[in-house]
Amino acid sequence: MPVRVLMVCLGNICRSPLAEGILTSKTSPELVIVDSAGTAGYHVGNPPDPRSVEVAASHGVDISRQRCRRFSPADFDNFDYIFAMDRENLIHLQGLARNARDLEKVSLLLKTAEMPEEEVPDPYYGGEDGFLAVYRMIDRATDQLLESLLGR
Ligand code: 4NP
Repeated sequence: MPVRVLMVCLGNICRSPLAEGILTSKTSPELVIVDSAGTAGYHVGNPPDPRSVEVAASHGVDISRQRCRRFSPADFDNFDYIFAMDRENLIHLQGLARNARDLEKVSLLLKTAEMPEEEVPDPYYGGEDGFLAVYRMIDRATDQLLESLLGR
């Protein structure tokens, strides 16, 4: 049985689509199933932000076919691990948890990946360099995450 991983940010157009695309590019669906969602519904149905699509493409990762969706409590049943990009997303997800089992599934991506930073900063209102920094951070985090997930 593959491990099922859900990446969550606020809008599901900048950070979590990158996290989905980068982790997907490093594994196979027989081992890890990856999806992403947003805690907010502003952009439902839209493709990722062009700056995320661009920085991913420049690293050989195609996220252009992803479409934004909002996190739903049913995701607690459909995923083994739910990774929040920042504390605000984490608190939102914890508030939606229906029981202790749901709560256990939720954590900060960078904390679980044992990175020095805690949060993947929201790059939406910044420039292109913010998207590159986010890409690099998630790239390192997903390397470490895969080791711990598949080493179970
Ligand atoms: P994300 O970034 O949570 O990484 O997808 C954002 C995208 C959109 C907005 C905020 C953050 N927004 O306010 O529309």
